[in-house]
Amino acid sequence: MARKRGAVLISGRGSNMASLIAAAAASDYPADIALVVSNRSDAAGLARAQAAGIDTAVVSHRDFGTNREAFEQAMQDTLERHRVDLVCLAGFMRVLTPWFIRRWEGALLNIHPSLLPAFKGLDTHARALAAGVRIHGASVHFVTAELDSGPIIMQAAVPVLDRDTPDSLAARVLTAEHRIYPAALKLVCEQRVRMVDGRCAVDAAASDGAMLVAPDIG
Ligand code: GRF
Repeated sequence: MARKRGAVLISGRGSNMASLIAAAAASDYPADIALVVSNRSDAAGLARAQAAGIDTAVVSHRDFGTNREAFEQAMQDTLERHRVDLVCLAGFMRVLTPWFIRRWEGALLNIHPSLLPAFKGLDTHARALAAGVRIHGASVHFVTAELDSGPIIMQAAVPVLDRDTPDSLAARVLTAEHRIYPAALKLVCEQRVRMVDGRCAVDAAASDGAMLVAPDIG
């Protein structure tokens, strides 16, 4: 199967982006990271991507005022110019319109720092601590029109410790994020997980333990 051309959309530091770039450096990984796009020119992840020799682009939402479709059309043009097959959101802090989401249906992934459907939205770690959950984690899912609600491809669980602060919990979850995002993208590229009728269709081999990553104690 030909390697897919992946793009990563970021707004900030880009540590998940870096985990995808690192995974794609392996010759047997089914995707190349062909492009990194940021909506902010000051995103630290841009320099990281450039240092890894990846093409980068800035499409600033500020250039388009309140016209979200024009912003997304500019992103779309950039993605098409780079012949992108799949798009990974990684700390991309803009809500996408149904137009863009439909255009990339089944080929648009996001990573969210909670065990969805718990704690959709922002400040997930502080909210998990406030709720008193004992297990927290991260989810990679297909993006659908409803925020943080698309079919879940892969999740990782981590323990919540009594001494945790939002920052210490975030750091533990982030380590898990860096494991599952490359693994989930691989499953999608190999078409072992697909989005069918708004759900994940998983082939038998992929469902053999690959979908649940065991808790990472410590
Ligand atoms: C991650 O926690 C991700 O789950 C969330 O935003 C954060 C981005 O971090 N969507 P990074 O830019 O990948 O380091």
